[in-house]
Amino acid sequence: MTDRLKGMAGIRISGWGVALPEKVVTNEDLSKTLDTSNEWILERSGIAERRIGGTTSGLAVEAGKLALESAGLEPHDIDLLILATTTPDDQVPATSSKVQHELALTCGAMDVNAACSGFVYSLVAGSGFLHAGCNRILVIGSETLSRFTDWQDRSTAILFGDGAGAVVLESSSDGGELLGWDLSSSGELRDLLYCSIGGKIHMAGSEVFRKAVIAMANSGKASIANAGIAPEEISLVIPHQANIRIIETSLKRLGIPLEKAVWVGDKYANTSAASIPIALAHALDNGQVKENDVILLVGFGAGMTSASAVIKWGEIND
Ligand code: UT7
Repeated sequence: MTDRLKGMAGIRISGWGVALPEKVVTNEDLSKTLDTSNEWILERSGIAERRIGGTTSGLAVEAGKLALESAGLEPHDIDLLILATTTPDDQVPATSSKVQHELALTCGAMDVNAACSGFVYSLVAGSGFLHAGCNRILVIGSETLSRFTDWQDRSTAILFGDGAGAVVLESSSDGGELLGWDLSSSGELRDLLYCSIGGKIHMAGSEVFRKAVIAMANSGKASIANAGIAPEEISLVIPHQANIRIIETSLKRLGIPLEKAVWVGDKYANTSAASIPIALAHALDNGQVKENDVILLVGFGAGMTSASAVIKWGEIND
């Protein structure tokens, strides 16, 4: 990343919200129809259960509404909606336009598909739009991966879940900043993880695992270097919630203790573009984010894409 593209001053996440389908599917439930077990899934992935159901737009609307409420904003206050999703309701139009209508937003709307890296891509893009003159942007990650899961395939069916997370991103002078970021894509790795139109998800699990560890560590390192800080200065990591072992190994490479990472994948599994905002909202609701904290968001996914951002949290007024 050149200096010209480095972090832009003055951002704040002023509101957030999460939407999850009510239906809980446990590992035990899956082991009734698949040749697997709770022990195997827990040990290999850290996942205990997942939520299944809803629509991508419906979950996005629910999460978006909560984010607006918690920011104390009205729909007309939002200047742009960015919806990160890899599981749109329709091929055309973009799911974001449906969400814009249902939330009564009076602004532009677009989908971003960068698979599981989509939320961080959208957050970085949102920061750019703030720099270009927008004041408040609603960034949502929403997925219904269960629609594209082959429920007879034990190597993928155990991993995915449905859900949405949303944040309001505002320009601000309260000390919050995007200190550094990194986005990448390796299109030659397409066949490791893909879903053709009308098809189901195919994944070469252990190969994706290996690439994911490297991608998370490299992207995290690049963002930390761009931010001009040391890994020890990271207070909290919000990683993509794919597999606790991927998080463990990549953080080791980054020199950041696992205790600094937020993990909610045990309850919600891999919700692709929704996993980072869901984990972030969890950390915020649990008081894990403190004034002046420096937070690393880092994800990877099909593409294969990776994305990370180092955000300095500003004042907290409550
Ligand atoms: O958002 C990005 C998307 N994807 C990911 O991040 C996924 C990355 N990959 C992973 O998380 C892991 O590769 C998995 C959790 C999917 C699998 O764990 P693994 O330790 O890499 O297992 P493996 O694929 O190397 O398979 C080991 C064995 C195989 O049996 P054999 O050939 O050793 O006899 C598999 O057939 O485990 C078998 N296996 C299972 N056994 C019980 C595969 N899936 C299951 C299962 N239950 N669900």
